[in-house]
Amino acid sequence: MTSKLRRLTLTAMAAAALAAPFAAQLSARADEPLKVGFLVKMPEQAWFINEQKAATALGQKDGFSVVNIGTPDGEKVLAAIDNLGAQGAKGFVICAPDVRLGPAIQARAKRYNMKFVTVDDQLVDSTGKPLANVPHLGMSAFKIGNQVGQAISDEMKRRGWKPEEVGALRITDYELPTAKLRTDGATQSLLAGGFRKENIFDAPQKTTDDEGGFNAVSPVLAQHPNIKKWVIFALNEESVLGGVRATEQLHIPAADVIGVGINGAGEAFAEFQKKEPTGFYGTIAVSSTNHGKESTENLVEWIKDGKQPPADTQTTGKLMVRDNWLDVRKELGI
Ligand code: GLA
Repeated sequence: MTSKLRRLTLTAMAAAALAAPFAAQLSARADEPLKVGFLVKMPEQAWFINEQKAATALGQKDGFSVVNIGTPDGEKVLAAIDNLGAQGAKGFVICAPDVRLGPAIQARAKRYNMKFVTVDDQLVDSTGKPLANVPHLGMSAFKIGNQVGQAISDEMKRRGWKPEEVGALRITDYELPTAKLRTDGATQSLLAGGFRKENIFDAPQKTTDDEGGFNAVSPVLAQHPNIKKWVIFALNEESVLGGVRATEQLHIPAADVIGVGINGAGEAFAEFQKKEPTGFYGTIAVSSTNHGKESTENLVEWIKDGKQPPADTQTTGKLMVRDNWLDVRKELGI
């Protein structure tokens, strides 16, 4: 054997040695129960805890296992996919920390021949369009935003507030399409209800949680000490709650604040159970249980039967306030 040939043979053998364990792994696992991942951007948020819980419960009922992973940044997403691949998982549901990770996630999933679907936040391609061939399930963002605006408008009228004396804190995240649609929808309904456009103030948030809402709202409140009555809205209730906490810090009375969120999860429940009402008036509740269950069901049917899930499923919401939160919670199975 010439030395060149030997080198080539060795290279080929090395490649085979590298590839073999992977192939062996796959075939060894062929009989094992199906395993899928459920990856979320904010594993500490009640909404996402509930989604993962619902996915796990479905797995227990239908005989597959769910690996729940928190993936707060892009590196953790890719590491989680590698980890799932090494465990022989056949696919995953994901709510990514940044929708622009779309092409990277797609490439990594392909490496392990895994199918995946998105939940809540739809991934985009390099031009910002929804990533093709990735089934999505999320809330009907603009319509739910409309419900937020309508609820605020109705409550302003009930309290007898005059439009000229009220400011709106619009907590925004324009990098996330579903967030923009939600606050745009709320804005549309507020304006239709007679809200003054010039009284709407943007409070851009860096993170979509309580802290993000608090930090976004505080400087805006400081800039408008003359405004005594405030309404607050955002992509979710956590952000609105952060905004409400910021008004409390400035001793703005709860009766002068109308905050309306979106989600209907643990943090809103805790707020409704406080002895005295706060500035958090209500939230548009959506079933996180169904989001977790249906997205997982779609994925599993796709893997097992080759039935490709619908490209875009949009879910609806219902206004939840102090007086009806328990009923709405029951009704939505949250
Ligand atoms: C986004 C938000 C979450 C939740 C989901 C629901 O991901 O960050 O708080 O509202 O949407 O779709």
